[in-house]
Amino acid sequence: MVSTAAFVGNAQAQDAAGSAALVEKGRQLATAADCAACHTAPKGGTPFAGGYPILSPLGTIYASNITPSKSAGIGDYSLEDFTRALREGVRKDGAHLYPAMPYPSYTQLSDEDTAALYAYFMHGVPAVDKAAPQTDLPFPFNIRMSMAVWNALFLKDQRFTPDASKSAEWNRGAYLAGALAHCSTCHSPRNALMAEQNGSEFLSGGSLGTWYAPNITSDAKAGIGAWSEAELVQYLKTGGVHGKAQAAGPMAEAIENSLQHLPDADLKAIAVFLKQTPAVAGTEQQPRFAYGQPAVSELTLRGKSGDVDAGWRIFSGSCAHCHQAGGTGTDNGQYPSLFHNTATGADRPDNLVAAILYGVNRKVGEHDHFMPAFGDDASFTDRLSDSEIASVSNYVLTQYGNPAVKVTADDVKVLRAGGKPPFIAQMRPLILPAIVLVVLVVIALVALRGRRRRAAR
Ligand code: HEC
Ligand code: HEC
Ligand code: HEC
Repeated sequence: MVSTAAFVGNAQAQDAAGSAALVEKGRQLATAADCAACHTAPKGGTPFAGGYPILSPLGTIYASNITPSKSAGIGDYSLEDFTRALREGVRKDGAHLYPAMPYPSYTQLSDEDTAALYAYFMHGVPAVDKAAPQTDLPFPFNIRMSMAVWNALFLKDQRFTPDASKSAEWNRGAYLAGALAHCSTCHSPRNALMAEQNGSEFLSGGSLGTWYAPNITSDAKAGIGAWSEAELVQYLKTGGVHGKAQAAGPMAEAIENSLQHLPDADLKAIAVFLKQTPAVAGTEQQPRFAYGQPAVSELTLRGKSGDVDAGWRIFSGSCAHCHQAGGTGTDNGQYPSLFHNTATGADRPDNLVAAILYGVNRKVGEHDHFMPAFGDDASFTDRLSDSEIASVSNYVLTQYGNPAVKVTADDVKVLRAGGKPPFIAQMRPLILPAIVLVVLVVIALVALRGRRRRAAR
């Protein structure tokens, strides 16, 4: 006969095993959702202790400490509080979060997955009692209540519903891409109020300031329709596909922190899903990766304009020792070719200029993929000015990439400063006068009504 004590002990052991499995599931989900990317301070910050500055066009937003610390983190959050933060963007104290926290994507997460994430953050993450820096946006963006209006307009507070007409693999890919890995946060364009346009423009490309997350719909020219599933999987796993593309900037971070750790079956599911998204066409004549061919400069330069000549000199001094004089890169693929490269074949120069300004820094497995940042003024002697970056970009575009794209020193200046501010940030100086005007109009209308009423009496 089994004693009661032994029975209880057994159930506890089972409980412990069950919750260990739940915590582990939560850990995997947190990796797929890349919670660490924003909730960990750069350069060796403690995981999930917050403090990563998100340089939004409206000002700097700091990600919170989401360790289970009761004083500085989310130790007081119940499962309901946690779920509300993830799905509705509302903090335990009722304040609204800014959508720099991707709750518009996480809102699709299932109950099961939010519970697993909660178990992980409560039991799998060590508490850190240090508070993250406070976010302090300029007026009127410091009024968190305004996000309630934004949510009413743009938040689709709905769980993911599988599409029965599609395969299980497609549905898994749709859930990963849409809810967890939040690809649309970067790859969908945003409207004037910075809400993702996930209808007919889903994944058709979005500006992140300096970097540009390109169209990854199934369109064969504007998107990734001409990539094979295997190439997409390789790109998501390693960030590099020979003769096509490399991942730098925010995409490199997504791969380094999150995507490289996903099981191959999940990456394949994302690829299957991407290949079946509705195509969004652009003006491209051929795919971004198809542009260009090797060109040894001296031979083809004759008769070209002075800017191209200046660009060639910068190219030979700063770029050719890695990318080779003919732009071919090296055979082992360590240094990529500059033709058949989506950064030079795109119909906008953002990622070429951004790669020169910020370099490439991506650690995948044991491999470091590194290109120096030529825009860096502190640590690097080979700093390039705006006009030098424009010249070398024009040289690279003319010789190896999309020759229709041109770069001016002013373009580089704007990208160096973080890109063109979106409409809402440009409108900031007008918002206060606009509010005053609305109030005056309301007062005038009320006064008028009062007078009419009196007149009618
Ligand atoms: C793209 C960046 C980003 C990612 C990815 C991200 N967060 Fe956040 N999160 C933020 C920012 C920024 C804030 C603070 C926003 C604010 O202050 O309005 C925040 C706030 C929160 C809060 C509110 C905490 C509080 O009381 O202040 C919770 C909970 C949270 N995130 C959980 C998560 C979890 C869990 C994940 C992964 C599933 C995640 N976040 C992924 C950026 C991110
Ligand atoms: C944090 C922003 C961000 C997120 C999240 C993100 N991407 Fe990207 N992605 C980018 C940027 C920026 C580039 C361009 C990188 C470059 O050229 O160096 C890019 C490039 C790509 C490319 C290569 C396109 C080309 O033509 O070179 C693919 C494919 C891609 N992303 C797929 C995805 C998928 C699938 C997801 C979700 C699982 C995703 N990305 C999530 C920002 C992001
Ligand atoms: C020290 C070697 C080195 C130098 C110098 C260098 N690069 Fe790179 N470059 C790299 C590496 C490594 C990569 C990324 C390879 C990878 O991701 O696998 C890269 C990637 C690129 C990319 C693709 C970026 C993207 O986002 O897709 C472009 C474009 C580029 N380099 C242009 C240049 C130009 C222009 C110069 C000169 C101003 C230059 N590089 C100098 C090593 C170098």
